[in-house]
Amino acid sequence: MLKIKNLNYSVLEKDSKKDILKDINIEFNSGKTYCITGPNGSGKSTLVKMIIGILRQTDGNIVFDGKDISNLEIDQRANLGISFAFQKPVTFKGLKVRDLLDIASGKKNDFSSVCSYLSEVGLCAKDYINRYIDDNLSGGELKRIEIAMALARKCKLNIFDEPEAGIDLWSFDNLTEVFSSLKDCCNIIVSHQRKILEMADYIVLLKDGVIEKVGTLKELEPLLQKPTCARLAR
Ligand SMILES: Nc1ncnc2c1ncn2[C@@H]1O[C@H](COP(=O)(O)OP(=O)(O)OP(=O)(O)O)[C@@H](O)[C@H]1O
Ligand SMILES: [Mg+2]
Repeated sequence: MLKIKNLNYSVLEKDSKKDILKDINIEFNSGKTYCITGPNGSGKSTLVKMIIGILRQTDGNIVFDGKDISNLEIDQRANLGISFAFQKPVTFKGLKVRDLLDIASGKKNDFSSVCSYLSEVGLCAKDYINRYIDDNLSGGELKRIEIAMALARKCKLNIFDEPEAGIDLWSFDNLTEVFSSLKDCCNIIVSHQRKILEMADYIVLLKDGVIEKVGTLKELEPLLQKPTCARLAR
């Protein structure tokens, strides 16, 4: 469903070329969950931002459902069925949680639907439905609302960049269940968390802008134990 072909991304830094992603070739299939992992700065966020169109590749192609989306804008890609939850969620001045969920699902949700989206991510609807999406929400609350939006959008491809960031350990298990419940679509989760690695069908290990290996957790376990990735294995 998503094919990335010969993707490169370079930036100019102090007049010299810095290669951030180097010859990325990978295919993501429907009905599967992929976890992109790797050391800080390896290019994980850059890669997913390129898939959704926030960043434009230096060269290479991104093909979604047989259509070359490499030069489409963010909204055009979103309309094709790609959703994205940021590593650092954005706030929307003047919008309430219920407005955002209505926008995400493309219709006015009744209270019970809002309640079910919010309760899936561990938030009580009556406390949050009328809250503004602003800086008064905690980082963990914003992350949860972003995940609830992805549930409401029911996209073909869901991308989450470090969804665990800011989520307390006590409710983290419930959140992994939410990702497991997203079936009949393709999920790409950027994560350093063992629980997410365990629930993924495939792990994509990125290092220094290169895909080092793609495989099951069992297949990648020896690589994840190496010192540079030691913290991933805990
Ligand atoms: N515009 C830019 N100019 C210079 N360097 C950049 C630019 N954008 C990204 N980088 C660098 O590219 C590398 C990859 O960044 P990226 O945010 O994709 O890493 P990441 O794997 O998501 O890391 P983390 O685990 O910390 O979130 C980093 O070294 C970053 O500093
Ligand atoms: Mg990142």
